[in-house]
Amino acid sequence: MEKLPAQMTVIGISKPGGPEVLLPETRSVPVPGPGEILVKVLAAGVNRPDVAQRSGAYPPPPGASDLPGLEIAGEVVALGAGASRHKIGDKVMSLVAGGGYAQYCIAQDAQAMTVPPALSMQEAGAIPETLMTVWHNVFERGGLQPGETLLIHGGSSGIGTMAIQLAKAFGSRVIVTVGSKDKADACLKLGADKAINYKTEDFVAVVKAATDGAGANVILDMVGGDYIDRNYDAAAVDGRIVQIAFLSGQPKANVNFSKLMVKRLHHTGSTLRPRSNADKAAMVAAIEAKVMPLLREGRVKPLMDSTFPLEKAADAHRRMETSAHIGKIVLAV
Ligand SMILES: NC(=O)c1ccc[n+]([C@@H]2O[C@H](COP(=O)([O-])OP(=O)(O)OC[C@H]3O[C@@H](n4cnc5c(N)ncnc54)[C@H](OP(=O)(O)O)[C@@H]3O)[C@@H](O)[C@H]2O)c1
Repeated sequence: MEKLPAQMTVIGISKPGGPEVLLPETRSVPVPGPGEILVKVLAAGVNRPDVAQRSGAYPPPPGASDLPGLEIAGEVVALGAGASRHKIGDKVMSLVAGGGYAQYCIAQDAQAMTVPPALSMQEAGAIPETLMTVWHNVFERGGLQPGETLLIHGGSSGIGTMAIQLAKAFGSRVIVTVGSKDKADACLKLGADKAINYKTEDFVAVVKAATDGAGANVILDMVGGDYIDRNYDAAAVDGRIVQIAFLSGQPKANVNFSKLMVKRLHHTGSTLRPRSNADKAAMVAAIEAKVMPLLREGRVKPLMDSTFPLEKAADAHRRMETSAHIGKIVLAV
């Protein structure tokens, strides 16, 4: 067995600010506690919440690492007491509470999933955050059913590109909103049935026209602001709207709630990071049963935008903040 070093290189947030505040640091290699495993990180996914954390708008929850990085893939190198799902040398991918931008990272044994051979380690590092967010919000909270229509705002995002594939694999119809023709083409190629350029088209009118006036059964919204009232217009009777972010910067909105009553809508939302380990383990168990076969067969794969070396994490954030990316950005460690 490889001897573990005492120290490791990580990317820390030297102070709240722009991408330039992401700087290499030396930290002690963490020791896994009960129910935890230590993973030698080979790839770490970059997510929009990392950008928010870096700029000071999204502090880590109590007890979590102060380092950015919410998902990793790598090799198990040490086991904490009672950790029995994985063994030393296994290749795993996992959601982590923070600390993914590092050579070594602690994961919960119950949240780490075996990497299927159909995935490269970089693809595996791009999966856990989006897969768990989409699974929980679209299927568990939104209750999307085969034959129903899902409207995804931000269709080309890491979250959106995973949601397109899962909803199509489970037999639903998918409409996305995007900000450019390139993004529309990428979403259609991934399987979306319709892509709406929100800069030139009114998504409410297009969704209504595409559903014979019925509207979307489930809406995954990461934009907020004036989309909230417009989502109520675009939703079908008994529709479910799931709020996962406010990229517009506007969590407050002027909403006509009579639409909620008349259409019997459900408007819900959630945020993954502060959920308990038990909640996250339950999501992983459901994903292992229902989604892992799709990953093993290669029917669902993250759409990869770009890979940066760990020490170029600032460039990865710059790319994300241009919003030019389509799919996932990953750090190779
Ligand atoms: N609640 C949760 O549990 C949870 C978990 C993970 C992520 N999230 C959230 O989900 C969202 C997507 O995450 P991600 O990592 O997949 O993001 P991402 O890959 O960076 O994609 C975000 C995309 O949203 C689109 N967008 C639409 N309106 C926008 C606006 N006003 N400002 C900026 N972008 C806008 C952009 O594409 P266009 O060019 O098409 O506009 C952008 O590429 C983020 O807001 C993230 O915080 C929530």
